[in-house]
Amino acid sequence: SPIEPLLANRHIVITAGPTREEIDPVRFISNHSSGKMGYALAKAAVALGGRVTLVSGPVNLPRPAGVDLIDVVSAEQMHKAVMTAVINPKVSGTQSDSMQLNCDIFIGCAAVADYKPQQKIEQKIKKSDTELTLTFTRNPDILSDVAHLAQPPFTVGFAAETQDVAHYAQDKLKRKKLDMIAANDVSQAGLGFNSEQNALNVYWNNGGKNLGVADKSQLAISLMTLVAQRHALKTI
Ligand code: PMT
Repeated sequence: SPIEPLLANRHIVITAGPTREEIDPVRFISNHSSGKMGYALAKAAVALGGRVTLVSGPVNLPRPAGVDLIDVVSAEQMHKAVMTAVINPKVSGTQSDSMQLNCDIFIGCAAVADYKPQQKIEQKIKKSDTELTLTFTRNPDILSDVAHLAQPPFTVGFAAETQDVAHYAQDKLKRKKLDMIAANDVSQAGLGFNSEQNALNVYWNNGGKNLGVADKSQLAISLMTLVAQRHALKTI
């Protein structure tokens, strides 16, 4: 009989790219995320037979084939799109349990802005001779909100660290109630944000795996395979 793909019948929700937080009609704050890592993960999940919803901030990448792509701009919009994709009850198919979550696995790969300008300024800020002070307020933490749902999906976070990688990643794993965390080693040039390659160290409760340095497409296959295996172990 044919072998079932690892993610058959699984719905995977993935975030990718940066968010933009609007300051005024012509300005925003953001970061250097290109979306490459998250898009590679979406492709890997499709290759492993999964149904994929990709919630993406503004990037310059084509929509991966076979992926349900939801474009967003701000962290607030990403939060709303993720919660809808994760929580909405199953509406089609033979599933009759309407309380069942619509998501098996959530992966937060987006570089979400932690802060947004306190108030949106309706007109372009004019320059003057004095200093300009902007006040920022906290954005919602998407990853933490998903992980703290009553019946959360298998939740995977990312962490960008430059030192004590294992310590900080394991702390984030526990604090945010994650099933797994993938720590980028961003201390080396040419890895992490806006590059072709990355280096990932993955941690879970009482375990871990170093996936080494590789192209993001290759790392995405390794990470998705590991996620599928650990998720399968959890649901036995
Ligand atoms: O997009 P690329 O150019 O390919 O680069 C990939 C990457 C380096 C951006 C990616 O691999 C990565 O590390 N993404 C997460 C970067 C990040 O913002 O890390 P953080 O330590 O600030 O956040 C930790 C986790 O919480 C992340 O899973 C993040 O998605 C999530 N988060 C953070 C803040 C927030 N308000 N909501 C969140 O969900």
